[in-house]
Amino acid sequence: MIREIVQVGDEVLRTKCEPVTVFDKNLWTLLDDMKETLRKEEGAGLAAPQVGVPVRAVLVDVEEGFFEFINPVFVWQKGEQSGAEGCLSVRGKAGNVTRPSKVKIIFQDRKGEKYSLVARGFFARAVCHECDHLDGVLYTDKATEIREVED
Ligand code: NI
Repeated sequence: MIREIVQVGDEVLRTKCEPVTVFDKNLWTLLDDMKETLRKEEGAGLAAPQVGVPVRAVLVDVEEGFFEFINPVFVWQKGEQSGAEGCLSVRGKAGNVTRPSKVKIIFQDRKGEKYSLVARGFFARAVCHECDHLDGVLYTDKATEIREVED
């Protein structure tokens, strides 16, 4: 089911999200709905608070594949890259953000299994952007040269 994407100004986007502790059908429905919503919007990622659910779950959809990261935690971050970002919760804008060029995270999948992963380039950027959402941080907090763009 397509869910409504919360827009900037809503408190849920500024909430420190709670860890996922139960890996049940409710979580899977949330993740499936988020995927459907993300695909429709053709975005690179979506975090649970963006559909109004303040839990630590994000999706990333990039060249490397489609990923669900539950309770993601950074192990390390290396290097620096600067590039353009937008956000489905901040319509009509884009900005330049400096991010690590390479990150390693540990996370759980939808069944609670633990994994680790290294992401580079735009993939790393997307992971950082989505994980920021889990701590109530928007890219506009970090961006320079925010400009109007067409959605
Ligand atoms: Ni975003």
